[in-house]
Amino acid sequence: MTAGYLSGFGSHFESEAIVGALPVGRNSPQRPAFGLYTEQVSGTAFTAPRHDNRRSWLYRMRPTADHRPFEPYARAPRFAAAADGAPLAPNRLRWDPPADLLDSTDFVDGLVTMLHARLPEELEGCAVHLYRATRSMERRVFVDADGELLIIPQQGALLIRTELGVIEVAPGSVALVPRGIKFRVELPDGEARGYVAENYGLPFRLPDLGPIGANGLANPRDFETPVAAFEDSDEPTEVVQKYLGALWTTTLDHSPLDVVAWHGNYVPWRYDLERFNTIGSISFDHPDPSIFTMLTSPSNVAGRANADFVIFPPRWMVAEDTFRPPWFHRNVMSEAMGLIYGEYDAKAEGFAPGGLSLHNLMSGHGPDLDSWRKASKAELQPVRIGGTMAFMLETCWPYRPTRFALERAQPDYDEAWAGFPKARLP
Ligand SMILES: [Fe+2]
Repeated sequence: MTAGYLSGFGSHFESEAIVGALPVGRNSPQRPAFGLYTEQVSGTAFTAPRHDNRRSWLYRMRPTADHRPFEPYARAPRFAAAADGAPLAPNRLRWDPPADLLDSTDFVDGLVTMLHARLPEELEGCAVHLYRATRSMERRVFVDADGELLIIPQQGALLIRTELGVIEVAPGSVALVPRGIKFRVELPDGEARGYVAENYGLPFRLPDLGPIGANGLANPRDFETPVAAFEDSDEPTEVVQKYLGALWTTTLDHSPLDVVAWHGNYVPWRYDLERFNTIGSISFDHPDPSIFTMLTSPSNVAGRANADFVIFPPRWMVAEDTFRPPWFHRNVMSEAMGLIYGEYDAKAEGFAPGGLSLHNLMSGHGPDLDSWRKASKAELQPVRIGGTMAFMLETCWPYRPTRFALERAQPDYDEAWAGFPKARLP
């Protein structure tokens, strides 16, 4: 098995696990080397503008087309579960890490859907899932036709074997598997937990930097794409596919992770969140949290993201005469937040690593009473917020929690904002 990574975001890479497998000078030669099959996988329309166009050419042992019909897959009823259709109360919601995630499952069966925004067939929207896996996927792979998957480990390492190569991630790093790319998740260190952000819309890209300049936030060279690696296996292999919000299964007589060489820019990657170049105020005021955007999936409206993946890494707070934690606010965008490790600076308690919060369309939120008191009275010195990594998946489409999520929400989250003293007018 070849191992290694290529650096860059949006780059055109090429990689071959066997010398001579990658054609030179053309994409689809009449007779590819070693009898390999040529297959293009397109993540954007053929005619997408050049700077948005994502596609890769795969040279594989068998074509993806060689499979029997898919049948409904029944073993993961909490994954891809439709949101409850009942009217959604305009309430803030928060969750402890669910104590009843399934035991003795692999990554696919251990996925639980918490939040949906829109439907996969609309090609816009996103979803937030949690996973708990206690064993590796064996002789099976997963593929999501509905969107790309941003995998956010919170506990335990993952070895992700994709069609294009092998990615290792641990808490503090994230991995992205593009829409339609098959992969298997193995557990090198035992039990693993975390989050999955599923993006139905345009593929995540790096945000524009405007006056920040050519560098900063997530830098392209820190994204690592695996080199080509393949399995030569004639063992029966199950393919579980998520397709238009439901799960389907079929069994192949071989491993589909049989891509010997590839080239293109439609690729999986991993990213170490500690490499994020966090930028903030060096004078006064707390900037809008968009300053922490790592990835964005645009909608059809300029500046209004289908999904923004935003992270809150360790950083210095130096602003003078400023309420330094996130301020009270209401927002037309909807905010789902998770915590990978440490403590989040706007909440004193109740938001544990592995937990989740939801502040939907125009919900008032902000620091809780304890955090507000502390930050209002603090003598302002340079302070380092260390040892923490929270994230937000912000979308312009309101989230709907699943029934599983609604049944497990903290009953008293509103208490976080109870007891604020009334302002004293002159
Ligand atoms: Fe917010």
